[in-house]
Amino acid sequence: MKMIFRLLLILIISALTFSCAEKKIQSNSEEKADSLLALMTLREKIGQLTLYTSDWDVTGPTMRKGYQNDIKNGDVGAIFNAIGSAYTRQLQELAVENTRLKIPLLFGYDVIHGHRTIFPIPLAESCSWDLELMQRSARIAAEEATAEGLHWTFAPMVDIARDPRWGRVMEGAGEDTYLGSQIAAARVKGFQGENLNDINTMLACVKHFAAYGAAQAGRDYHTVDMSDRVLRETYLPPYKAALDAGAATVMTSFNEIHGEPASGSQYLLTDILRKEWGFDGFVVTDYTSIMEMLYHGVVADTTAAAALAINAGVDMDMQAGFFQDKLEQLVKEGKVSEARINEAAKRILKLKFDLGLFDDPYKYCDTAREKAVVMNEKFLIEAKENAKRSIVLLKNQDKVLPINKNIKTLAVVGPMAHARKDLIGSWSAAGDWKKAVTLLEGIQQTVSPSTKVLYAKGSPLMADSTQYFADAIAKAKQAEAIVLAVGEASWMSGEAASRTNIQLPLIQKKLMEEILKLNKPTVLIVMNGRPLDLSFEDKHFKAILETWFLGTQAGPAIAEVLFGDYNPSGKLTMTFPRSLGQVPIYYSMKNTGRPYESDPNNKYVSKYIDESNYPLYPFGHGLSYTSFSYTKPFLDKTVISPKDTLTVTCTITNIGDRPGEEIVQLYLRDLVGSVTRPIKELKGFKKVNLAVGESKVVSFKVTVEDLKFYTKEMKFSYEPGDFEVFVGGDSNTQNKILFSLKTD
Ligand code: BGC
Repeated sequence: MKMIFRLLLILIISALTFSCAEKKIQSNSEEKADSLLALMTLREKIGQLTLYTSDWDVTGPTMRKGYQNDIKNGDVGAIFNAIGSAYTRQLQELAVENTRLKIPLLFGYDVIHGHRTIFPIPLAESCSWDLELMQRSARIAAEEATAEGLHWTFAPMVDIARDPRWGRVMEGAGEDTYLGSQIAAARVKGFQGENLNDINTMLACVKHFAAYGAAQAGRDYHTVDMSDRVLRETYLPPYKAALDAGAATVMTSFNEIHGEPASGSQYLLTDILRKEWGFDGFVVTDYTSIMEMLYHGVVADTTAAAALAINAGVDMDMQAGFFQDKLEQLVKEGKVSEARINEAAKRILKLKFDLGLFDDPYKYCDTAREKAVVMNEKFLIEAKENAKRSIVLLKNQDKVLPINKNIKTLAVVGPMAHARKDLIGSWSAAGDWKKAVTLLEGIQQTVSPSTKVLYAKGSPLMADSTQYFADAIAKAKQAEAIVLAVGEASWMSGEAASRTNIQLPLIQKKLMEEILKLNKPTVLIVMNGRPLDLSFEDKHFKAILETWFLGTQAGPAIAEVLFGDYNPSGKLTMTFPRSLGQVPIYYSMKNTGRPYESDPNNKYVSKYIDESNYPLYPFGHGLSYTSFSYTKPFLDKTVISPKDTLTVTCTITNIGDRPGEEIVQLYLRDLVGSVTRPIKELKGFKKVNLAVGESKVVSFKVTVEDLKFYTKEMKFSYEPGDFEVFVGGDSNTQNKILFSLKTD
């Protein structure tokens, strides 16, 4: 007993010492930043507020050539798009050896879904609903990126997105605020690790603040206009969750909101971010977005743009160069206070101290480490695991899947069947597409050696040419089963890749029609970066696998699912519409005053005359090779007070013929509120592994925290009343039970 007590004491003391040491590092950084700031000229401080791209890969116009001179002159504090231990060392030397105060540069990069080892696109990965998995992929990305001289990733992107026309839906975690918030936190923890001073951790940058995902009509960079209620209830929580998880930096968005461009919004950048949320890291703009305020039409010249941005709360100017050009003058004229410049510079310097750059500016430029770390075998194994878990089985009628490994002849057809470049998807950073393993290669590695695999391209991705049809048809005719791989090219999603048509390209549809005529068991594999309108495909194919862009290990991962070595368990994190006309469509809609369900035969209810209200595949949908049954949810009490915790339990049974994993989802509905409430909101999920015939009780805790919303008075609070709690395998579930919250 004494022994245990002593052990406990030691543990407590060491935990306390550790947290004091952590705090000390932080406060030390702060003190050091202050002392350094005291030595700096105004121009040197402004230099810290300036970020330029190097002459590598860019995502927009390069504004300033000769950035090397800017570095030497101390006019730039951070560089992005420069990678590799050797190149970053070269640039770092320019700063450290030429500037008066030897302040090291900060190197940023878009490390979005892996750095060299490419993981599934973030939207795909979110379909795993596996927070640890997502944290691990961000961790690996940071391991590789820091080994290549990088200190700062422009990720995670946490913009809630409900319009599949918008190409950037591929970068986020889908449509849901609750799930999106948890994923945001997991990714931040992955990138930043335990301690920023560690050699393999990097600064995260939560983006794009704010509500970039709500661009009108899904057109990139377009206007955003929404009520404060929607902003706060739906769009802001993931940014907040990322900051609560410790995200060190924030990136503004390109869009306007409430009539103000985000990079000039005091409301967003100061009132919410600093005053309400207490954020103490730094804010960087998105690419040239200070300059873009001229086009938005809120400023008449570059000087006014720089003043608006810095006074609103921007700390670092990405690529516009307006801070560098205008801030000195603005301070002299009294239009910007030196205190504001000091505040911004200090935030940036503090993080440079936290990273350990002042102790050793070349800490991250270690070529031997780079060699040992990048594309390490362990990372490839994890990339495959991640890819398998990201796959969503949309349909599997008559158990077409899995395919028997001993099949005699298998035709592998389609423009994505042996596509390599597209597999790594958009925003694949420094990923080398040549290292990606194609679906055909994955199948060849996995299938039995006696199987004859016949490959045919079938059609181009886009071009209207039938030149490959005959070969594909001939090969498909010889096969017992066909794997038909279709999709979008990777450039069709990502930034500046909005579409007004979310179907597969026409030529691929023609190919599908030809293959369907053969009437053979066919599995359709869809590789894409956004929810598509798959109504045609759903109508005609018995088996459909949504594989998204799965990254370096795409082929082997899909092959494991095709042949049943892995039983798919992914669930959609964005609704798939029946047609573009339904967009925006998401599960947490409002009921309206004339809900369709109240009177389906009535013309005057909220519906379309030419289309159902229901999506093709709802949020949370995803099948398995086995099936699961759910009992009715059981509550430990039916009336709770604000202090209570409600326990909701449900027994899930594997009623199929193979082991499987189910993502059990809990939704709530607040039946009456002082303002209208969504018909369902996700408030919990759990993954459960079940052997054949096995049952497990899954339990969830619900507290008033889960019942809070912005009331009529815009107070984030709860109200007494009745609630429905649903437990099921997707957002369509009607498996529910009622409880009440009493407040007196
Ligand atoms: C994108 C950001 C990205 C930045 C730097 C911009 O065009 O919107 O998400 O981080 O470029 O590459």
